[in-house]
Amino acid sequence: MRALRPESTAEQKSGPPPIWLMRQAGRYQKEYREIREKVSFLELCHRPELAAEVTVFAVRQLEVDAAIIFADILLILDELGLELRFEENHGPVFDKPVRSLADVDALPQVPMAERLAYVGKAIEIAVKELGSTPVIGFAGAPFTVASYAIEGGSSRNFTKTKRFMYEEPVAFEGLMTRLTDATIDYLKMQIACGASCVQLFDSWVGCLSPFDFDTFIAPHMKRLFASVAPLSPSIYFGTTTAGLLERMTATGPDIIGVDWRMDLDTAWSLIGHDRGIQGNLDPVVLLSDRATIKTHAARVLEQAGGRPRHIFNLGHGILPQTPVDNARYLVEIVRELGA
Ligand code: CP3
Repeated sequence: MRALRPESTAEQKSGPPPIWLMRQAGRYQKEYREIREKVSFLELCHRPELAAEVTVFAVRQLEVDAAIIFADILLILDELGLELRFEENHGPVFDKPVRSLADVDALPQVPMAERLAYVGKAIEIAVKELGSTPVIGFAGAPFTVASYAIEGGSSRNFTKTKRFMYEEPVAFEGLMTRLTDATIDYLKMQIACGASCVQLFDSWVGCLSPFDFDTFIAPHMKRLFASVAPLSPSIYFGTTTAGLLERMTATGPDIIGVDWRMDLDTAWSLIGHDRGIQGNLDPVVLLSDRATIKTHAARVLEQAGGRPRHIFNLGHGILPQTPVDNARYLVEIVRELGA
């Protein structure tokens, strides 16, 4: 938790940075695939004992410094009635996308914390199992979640999302407000159940211009971080965010998560060293040999410069074809090089 605390300063002797890996519980693990042969992904999310089990297993297998609770950013949309399903080799699909003001107005008022209580239950079990290892809670950031709601699934260019944002600003604003309210409710519940910190996944926010971020996104993120700040530290993660880093920082998170498309030291200068940074190894590096992994991990560590508020992570989720041994080796080498 040291990396999360603002009082950490460059003068303190730091040692290796804390490390965890985005998507550390998942298909690259044989044990996860075995569970998935018996239950669907959504069932796994809905069963607290199983979700806690895969969460805890990843921590023990990789020997990382934090758990992230096993769940998904899209569960919230399922509870709003959009009817989430996962198609084989196709990813998430929503049969009832949001495409108009009428669709936004028709979204049901649901007690989100109550509906997603099963995630809280999984956090409680994982916290109990893990003792002093922190459990990170998470949610999708409203824009990234809205993009799935509007597109009806994954997207490459976010054309429907952006057209909706430009042509129906009142409806888009309404959707963002609803998602922000629901997300605040959901995160507060996760923190109450024992999450030590929360990460907001704004995976696709980098598709927006700085002007669009300021106009359509920033006010909601400010409200979100202001609501969470008294309760927990927060991490704001996005990809291809080089043009947005100062703006993301200004919305109020404690830590910014960055991908590999930018040098960590350059990113940290833009964010400001009074904030923490998380990242930023390219997940593809973990498909390589040990010498390559070591070289690239060393470069990330060098760019972090031994400052205490760096959390080592990948720049995006671990890939399904990653050998488990390579992920374990990364953790080992980061501890060795960072010592
Ligand atoms: O270990 C962890 O990191 C915690 C679990 C976690 C999952 N999804 C499990 C999952 C987290 C933090 C997420 C976040 C998430 N979900 C994001 C943001 C992070 C990112 O990758 O950008 C997004 C965009 C989603 C939406 C989502 N969920 C998609 C697009 C897909 C299908 C694509 C894919 O990778 O298969 C999922 C499914 C999903 N979420 C899986 C897992 C382990 C794979 C499901 C399976 O077992 O088949």
